[in-house]
Amino acid sequence: MADPRTNPRSRLRELGNLLPGYAIRAAATLRIPDAIADGVTETADIARRIHGTEAPTRALLHYLAGLGVLAATDTDQFELTDIGRLLCSDDAESLRAVYDLEQGRARAEVFWRLPDSIRTGQAAYPEIHGRTFWEDLAADRELGSTWAAMFAQHAEPLGHDLATVYDWSERHQVADLGGGKGVIMAALLEAHPHLRGTILDLEGMSVMAREFLGERNLVGRTDVTTGSFFDPLPDADVYLLSWILHDWPDDKSVDILANCASAARNNTRILVVEQLFEADAVTRGLASMYLLMLMLYGGRERSREEFDQLGEVAGLVRVGEYALSNGFVALEYALDDRS
Ligand SMILES: C[S@@+](CC[C@H](N)C(=O)[O-])C[C@H]1O[C@@H](n2cnc3c(N)ncnc32)[C@H](O)[C@@H]1O
Repeated sequence: MADPRTNPRSRLRELGNLLPGYAIRAAATLRIPDAIADGVTETADIARRIHGTEAPTRALLHYLAGLGVLAATDTDQFELTDIGRLLCSDDAESLRAVYDLEQGRARAEVFWRLPDSIRTGQAAYPEIHGRTFWEDLAADRELGSTWAAMFAQHAEPLGHDLATVYDWSERHQVADLGGGKGVIMAALLEAHPHLRGTILDLEGMSVMAREFLGERNLVGRTDVTTGSFFDPLPDADVYLLSWILHDWPDDKSVDILANCASAARNNTRILVVEQLFEADAVTRGLASMYLLMLMLYGGRERSREEFDQLGEVAGLVRVGEYALSNGFVALEYALDDRS
């Protein structure tokens, strides 16, 4: 018999199966892992707790056990696996809010609109929900803090790299635009005691940044400003845009860069931290990020040349490049004195 892993028909059916993703979303939405964490482990009790019907609840629980999200201890008793625990609301690394189909308008629906996004190059999210992904995050504290935690995890190594590879000795004031909860800022300020910082981000994130910087005893050296990088920027000699431009289409990315250029003086630097969409191994992993950015925000991943072109339109020229962890680079731009 043909090996199902190499049989193209079986492989396609496996790749095209939506049920695993939606079963996980159903579990998160119905808070099944929370119920089990609270000691409600038998099918009938779980069904009562989630206001479910018993027989379909049993089927879902067994399906989740087959996925490795739960473990079946005997025919009608279930416990959490390490994967299932990540779907509990109070887990330190909880992803529950990301998969909750009823909360903060989870992003699942955007996938149905991928063909449209491919045709138009536009985001699906605001079309579906009537407001942007960032507005939704700002309006939903649990969702906002789940995403902030994911951004923080990604930012942790970048902060340490940036503190090390870039020469901060002649720099004084760094503004992290869309700086999230402040992980990169904390790494820079802790490594370079002469630096002061400003974090500019939207309402929900700036509340989290104030809390986080307070825990790191950095409040005195950092201004946290609630606002938008499309509005006039605070004064700084370095503007940091880490994982920002890939959230935006070209015209908006130029607006952000041009805004930095308007605030810049001759010695100001703009650091763009991104992965480069180029023909190597990293690129293959980046294709999924590209599609996600497209569906959520109309954003995209870009090559070095594409960033340089955006910079050029905004009146900036690349003056440096620094390799960071996980395939990220910091592209350093300055005012183009020819423009
Ligand atoms: C992908 S996260 C990157 C966070 C952080 N810079 C990092 O490297 O992990 C994008 C950030 O941009 C912020 N953001 C989105 N729109 C914004 C706007 N108009 N003005 C300021 N920040 C914005 C979001 O709240 C979020 O914190």
